[in-house]
Amino acid sequence: MGIITVGAVRERAPGERRVALVPEAVTRLRQAGIDVLVEAGAGAGAWFADADYAAAGAAVVTAEELYERADAVLCVGLPDAETSVALRSGQALIGLLAPLGHPDRVDEWAERGITAVSLDLLPRTLSRAQSMDALTSQASVAGYKAVLVAADSYDRFLPMLTTAAGTSKPAAVLVLGAGVAGLQAIATARRLGAVVSAYDVRPASRGEVESLGARFLDLSAVTSGAGTGGYARELTEQEQRAQQEALDAHIARSDIVITTAQVPGRKPPLLVTAQALERMGPGSVVVDMAASDLGGNVELSKPDKTAVLYSGVTVIGAGNLPSAMATAASTAYARNIGALLTHLVRDGALVIDPDDEIQAGVVVTHGGEIVNQALAAVLVGSDGTLEGVS
Ligand code: NAI
Repeated sequence: MGIITVGAVRERAPGERRVALVPEAVTRLRQAGIDVLVEAGAGAGAWFADADYAAAGAAVVTAEELYERADAVLCVGLPDAETSVALRSGQALIGLLAPLGHPDRVDEWAERGITAVSLDLLPRTLSRAQSMDALTSQASVAGYKAVLVAADSYDRFLPMLTTAAGTSKPAAVLVLGAGVAGLQAIATARRLGAVVSAYDVRPASRGEVESLGARFLDLSAVTSGAGTGGYARELTEQEQRAQQEALDAHIARSDIVITTAQVPGRKPPLLVTAQALERMGPGSVVVDMAASDLGGNVELSKPDKTAVLYSGVTVIGAGNLPSAMATAASTAYARNIGALLTHLVRDGALVIDPDDEIQAGVVVTHGGEIVNQALAAVLVGSDGTLEGVS
């Protein structure tokens, strides 16, 4: 029986504080017969010291040694092109690699014989894959943190407070998009005592919203925006306009709006327009969790930027919220990676089996080819541009 060695690298993306393995995960991997390397300083941003990794049974090494010895390199985000040069043929790279957004890198992994495994392609509706669902674990952290970020910029109380100096009205919080992040935002805002309402195009989310004690908005303009795989579909132009008009009135009445709406592989839908922002009261706060370089749910929002509009509304383009709670996010992520490794490793080796439903989802490249059928189907032409992704 062989012994597999995995290695968690230090994340190099600016502002990224998470790490792929935490000491408790190292202990579990060692118990499962997996050797673990950790790059020196990898856990520092999430408050895990090299000595803690070593005490858990990992060897703390340089990046150079890690790339040389590891059978599988573990990361959170996609390593930059410069670092990736160190990957060698036959080696696996496991993380949230966002292959849909980086077709050139997919081609490169295939050409160089690297086995790329991306957790963001996990078939999420499979119940046996739930422990590996890093999108869910990170979205959950982000939804929680979004409320704290909003509360921090909101210069009033969230709960109704009765003191000798008077009674404060509870804040009205509106959450747009009630997926994993949205539901966690609703629960967090409720715990802080706000009055919460929410909206999602998937009718199935109504029950989940109501079970958290929030009101589900009835926007009769959109009957159902449910798409495939439990995700939303893109709305038609007419549906979008009708949704917008109905939403604007609710936005105007809210003190805090948190938007989380995404449609996989598409530009996020615009839900809070400049006109809607103008109708909000001074001191209101909007957090756009979908803010990206492609645009977000809120007009004017930019990732990692906060703007206070002349009307007195603060618009926060959320950046990497899971990284802002690096310890919790890394702990959950390390459990996801650990569960995936347990699934992939057989008799001390990484066994790639394209017939396995989980692997058919997450394995992007292997043995010099793009083996992910769904991804291969959207990769067109030799220029590696993606069809249907804007
Ligand atoms: P996401 O991050 O892709 O989107 C967030 C939310 O925005 C979704 O609920 C979506 O319906 C909503 N949205 C999209 N366009 C909208 C619009 N125009 N207006 C309002 N809302 C809009 O989704 P996430 O959170 O990653 O997952 C979405 C759903 O997928 C979950 O709620 C669940 O139903 C399903 N899922 C199932 C899992 C399982 O069965 N184990 C695991 C994870 C997700």
